[in-house]
Amino acid sequence: MRLGSLLSWCWVLRLLVLKKSPASAAGTWRRETFSHHAVLDENGKYHLRWKLENTVITFEVEVETRGYVGLGLSPTGSMAQSDMVIGGVANGRPYLKDYNTLNFEGKLNEDHHQDYRLEYGMENKTHTIIAFSRYLNSCDNKDKIITDNTVRVIWAYHPKDVQHNHPQYHSSNRGRKSLHLLNPVVDTSIPSDVLVFEIRHYNVTIPKKDTTYWCQIFKLPDLTKKHHVIRVEPIIQKGHEHLVHHILLYQCHSILNDSILSIGHECYHSNMPDDFFNCESIILAWAIGGKGFSYPSNVGLSLGTSTDPVYVMMEIHYDNVNYQEGYVDSSGLKLLYTPVLRKYDAGVIETGVWVSLYHMIPPNMPSYISQGHCTMECLEEALSQEKASGIHVFAALLHSHLAGRVLRIRHFRNNVEQPLLAHDDEFDFNFQEFRYLKEERVLQPGDSLVTECQYNTTYRSNMTWGGLSTRDEMCLSYLLYYPKIDLSRCESLPEILPQLEFIGVREIIQPIKTWPFIIKSPKKYKDLSFTEAMNKFQWSRKKGREFNSLVQRIEMNVRCAKHNEEEWHVHGIPVSAPSLNPWESKSEMEPVTCRTAWQYSDPLPVLFSLILHIVLATGI
Ligand SMILES: *[C@@H]1O[C@H](CO)[C@@H](O)[C@H](O)[C@H]1NC(C)=O
Ligand SMILES: *[C@@H]1O[C@H](CO)[C@@H](O)[C@H](O)[C@H]1NC(C)=O
Ligand SMILES: *[C@@H]1O[C@H](CO)[C@@H](O)[C@H](O)[C@H]1NC(C)=O
Ligand SMILES: *[C@@H]1O[C@H](CO)[C@@H](O)[C@H](O)[C@H]1NC(C)=O
Ligand SMILES: *[C@@H]1O[C@H](CO)[C@@H](O)[C@H](O)[C@H]1NC(C)=O
Repeated sequence: MRLGSLLSWCWVLRLLVLKKSPASAAGTWRRETFSHHAVLDENGKYHLRWKLENTVITFEVEVETRGYVGLGLSPTGSMAQSDMVIGGVANGRPYLKDYNTLNFEGKLNEDHHQDYRLEYGMENKTHTIIAFSRYLNSCDNKDKIITDNTVRVIWAYHPKDVQHNHPQYHSSNRGRKSLHLLNPVVDTSIPSDVLVFEIRHYNVTIPKKDTTYWCQIFKLPDLTKKHHVIRVEPIIQKGHEHLVHHILLYQCHSILNDSILSIGHECYHSNMPDDFFNCESIILAWAIGGKGFSYPSNVGLSLGTSTDPVYVMMEIHYDNVNYQEGYVDSSGLKLLYTPVLRKYDAGVIETGVWVSLYHMIPPNMPSYISQGHCTMECLEEALSQEKASGIHVFAALLHSHLAGRVLRIRHFRNNVEQPLLAHDDEFDFNFQEFRYLKEERVLQPGDSLVTECQYNTTYRSNMTWGGLSTRDEMCLSYLLYYPKIDLSRCESLPEILPQLEFIGVREIIQPIKTWPFIIKSPKKYKDLSFTEAMNKFQWSRKKGREFNSLVQRIEMNVRCAKHNEEEWHVHGIPVSAPSLNPWESKSEMEPVTCRTAWQYSDPLPVLFSLILHIVLATGI
């Protein structure tokens, strides 16, 4: 049998398997309810809703147009190399077709295998609604497999319907949005007596540029006894659903006082208030597409005790892709909290590479991997003193800056690798949120974690440094867990001297009085700071790879910090890096779900499809 006919078998069978009810024409359809919703365009005209049932994902698009609507999955966010589906309602009948732009010109081609199934469609005088479903893995190499990586969704709509099978792509409205399509749905039932605390920006004028980060410090409610935050929801100003891309809440040191309140400023800006640097650990995060974040039903974020946060900084990322002027925004977050305490306090551990100039990435590297260790020594000490039976991680947020491509958290138990705790192979800096793990993961004494960040510094001509600005890099992950223990940071940093020896540095000026410190010899680096020396070195890709493997082997400094700026004993002690095998994706690969005809156990549909196939093929 030829491969082509096998593939079409698979396709015919899938149609049969998917069939629940016939696609309805206008009038006879019943709109379904969806667990997820996002507004994709700046004018609020394009709504995407979706839900997952086993391996089938169902989308509903509701767009203010009477022409066609398109939805696509793109590797980069551009039209090229994408999987597209286009549909609409013409003459009272819904239509839908699977396309791709895999050819060189990036033009729309109809897929040979049509893997999107029309569920229902309708239009009225102003809107088109069309719902369709597909398998996460449609078994067609022209379709993108939907995974729990970040997905760049592209969208389009047009005032005219598709004619002669050729959608008019020009003059369509279009854009893109990163989403997590497979986030689990978490029970969000809220008791009626919850208290609500709002944190909102005050009429911020959004600059006429595509990306703005706006920060402000807020004071949490003044409580006389302990409460639990059980849910956090976004408050998005009406009409700004497309503009507010993500919101992060950082805990600030309690040394601040009220004088810092009500000063809003661009974050990561050279003249932002110094106090913003006192707010470093992310405690909450929301990103577009999410309705809110609920803690598990036995867990809450503690407020009102002496060790709880008093000041928090809210950072909102505004995504003004059309450089529109005149947006004034007062969006923010709503904390739902209650005096009815839950069993456990939630905690957040920051793990990864300690943010420092000693974390460095050479220029022009398509793939450079940094590793930040939450060492066995640190976890052992903190856990055995605080919670020897272990802590339960239920959500994680992966965090790097603009050069980050692939991020993952590896988990070891007595140095034996466990399944990944979290990963994103298509990381998008502009889209970060706490994501629930599929299953809670226990961390116990004897465990260790490695946060790995794969960077791409192609086209950068200088070193990239660990630091706070978006041009600098980070390699961090934030773990949400319970019950709370006194461990705020579990990180590592490669020692500096072996890194300097790599470029030939022999001696530095001591004692160190300036930062970054100065080099004494050899002559070519004399009186340069170590950062200047690193930049002066002639980096090649080969040198970069050698440096990468060196940095993964050299001693590292352990950061093992408690909450109140105190430290565990192992803090500051250099340890040798455990020797790790490179991460191999094949051990995590999902079982192959593509089946060929004879693998179906139920003979009846096989027989039926055989007949159907013959009918289709021969036209009998
Ligand atoms: C048309 O459909 C949209 C989307 O469901 C709805 O919001 C709008 O009110 C409808 N218009 C009319 C005139 O029924
Ligand atoms: C924002 O400005 C509007 C109009 O000037 C005003 O009514 C509103 O109270 C302001 N909002 C805040 C949060 O200051
Ligand atoms: C509040 O903090 C500011 C600077 O952060 C300081 O100048 C001021 O003295 C402080 N005020 C009080 C009352 O502590
Ligand atoms: C690195 O980035 C460049 C420029 O954006 C891109 O062309 C290249 O494909 C990327 N390489 C990898 C391995 O991601
Ligand atoms: C690279 O670094 C050198 C020396 O530190 C500096 O003079 C130059 O401006 C930097 N180039 C870029 C593109 O940042």
